[in-house]
Amino acid sequence: MRKLIIAANWKMNVGPKETTDFINSFTALLGRKCEHTDIVLAPPFVSLPAASEKLSEHPLVALAAQNVSQHDSGAYTGEISVLMLKELFTHYVIIGHSERRSLYGETDEIINAKLLKARQANIKPIFCIGETLEERESGRLESVLRTQIEGGLKDLTAKDMTDTVIAYEPVWAIGTGVVATAEQAQETHAFVRSVVKDLYGEDIANKVRIQYGGSVKPGNAAELMGQPDIDGALVGGAALDPQSFYDIISNSAPE
Ligand code: PGA
Repeated sequence: MRKLIIAANWKMNVGPKETTDFINSFTALLGRKCEHTDIVLAPPFVSLPAASEKLSEHPLVALAAQNVSQHDSGAYTGEISVLMLKELFTHYVIIGHSERRSLYGETDEIINAKLLKARQANIKPIFCIGETLEERESGRLESVLRTQIEGGLKDLTAKDMTDTVIAYEPVWAIGTGVVATAEQAQETHAFVRSVVKDLYGEDIANKVRIQYGGSVKPGNAAELMGQPDIDGALVGGAALDPQSFYDIISNSAPE
């Protein structure tokens, strides 16, 4: 049985002070219902120190960065390295979010280099994939996802793969309020798992956790998490409020 992993992607929201307030309110809510879920917060870089100070010893909540450089150090203005993240007890990093792909030109090659760099530093990638509405409606869903998965995971070992989380986020569902139906999401997750199986074999495919992302809310979380191939969620808008993020986690908890 795969453990659920539910992550908050705050995007360019929640500065250092608000981060401290959020964590105080959020951790006060956590209880027995959350013990069976890996909970991850991904604040903006500048809020990581505040979050790290509060969470470095917290038993239930881990930290993620929203991005990382594929380089170790040097003349890369504005970039952040894996070693810098490690200093802040950042155990996960989101890589290849559709906003990074579409707004900042991240290609499968760049995403692959970032995944490899994260694994070298023993940081767990949350590797995002997803199709646009146009790609889905023109019958290219599977080929688009296969290309993203094969390109992103190139040269990752089987061990690396067991420490990687995949986030399937249909681009048309991100921030739009339009959520994929549970059936649509399940069908696509099963396909994603089959591609992992083609690349790494059945054992690894059964172990790898695949999150759903795109307009996850307290009201739809339980049905989505109830699907056999959905192992968690990557949550944007609904994770900006501690109560709403907590409700997603508690509504998703296995009975
Ligand atoms: P959303 O964002 O929950 O606001 O749709 C999800 C994401 O982009 O990771």
